[in-house]
Amino acid sequence: MTVYGLDSSNGIAARLSRLLGDRYVMIETKTFPDGEVYIRVPEKPEGVAIAVVSTYAPQEKRLMQLLMTLEALGQWGTPIVAVIPYMAYARQDKRFLEGEPISARIVLSALESIGVDALVLVDVHQPHVVEEWFREPWRNVIPYKEVASYFRGILERPLVLAPDRGALERAKLVAGELGAPYDFLVKERDRVTGEVRVQPKSLSVEGRDVLIVDDIISTGGTMALAARNSLEAGARRVYAVCSHAVMVRGALDRLLAAGVEDVVATDTVPSPVSKISVAPSLAEAVKEVLGEIA
Ligand code: R5P
Repeated sequence: MTVYGLDSSNGIAARLSRLLGDRYVMIETKTFPDGEVYIRVPEKPEGVAIAVVSTYAPQEKRLMQLLMTLEALGQWGTPIVAVIPYMAYARQDKRFLEGEPISARIVLSALESIGVDALVLVDVHQPHVVEEWFREPWRNVIPYKEVASYFRGILERPLVLAPDRGALERAKLVAGELGAPYDFLVKERDRVTGEVRVQPKSLSVEGRDVLIVDDIISTGGTMALAARNSLEAGARRVYAVCSHAVMVRGALDRLLAAGVEDVVATDTVPSPVSKISVAPSLAEAVKEVLGEIA
């Protein structure tokens, strides 16, 4: 096998090649004067080609680099596994309003039509879109073991919280590893002031170290509200962890100002808080899909 990385791989491609014991090749990239991107695969694959491309901002450029990489790899006729640590446009997974596109469908259909044999994603916002729009073998890696291992020894009397019911499964997995209780937050609006508050559905945060687990921190608004309300409800300390540190519009400051003790993310999107590598879980997932395409 040969693992290919681009400059957006953030170390994941090289780590993955080490864990799999395979050759690592860096894809050449440049931008033409008119803004169009160029890539070249400098060495042909030995066996299966594993292309690692994370499509964080600027998303359109990185999506184009991803598709060009896959098209270029196709010329050698060996199987291709696309590893996309952060999949852009995953959150537009349905037509919220009439007239909107299903952007996640466009990305997934493009991957399939370009000839990808298997796909490995990390904590995609709604995994059902992959089920719906990608018909080759795929895995959605939830890096709960890595997250739990980072926080083991830091947290005292931990309680793991999901920001909403939809995110509960992720919190449950992390809590299971930590041997901690878990719950999800429910929103309520003060009828007089209009203020929105969140609180755990059933458990008390009193005196506990609260770990709030989400897929994405974008503006940090969701986490900041959860942190502030948890501290007001008597939490000892609040930590925020996510898979994808999109971190826009002063998210880190917003979270720290809300009283969050520390903010930690995986390395799918580079940022000052991206301290947990997803490479070990990706390596396992790659081995699994290889078994399905052999
Ligand atoms: C929403 O459904 C996602 O799971 C995240 O909770 C959301 O994207 C976080 O966004 P923000 O950081 O801007 O509140």
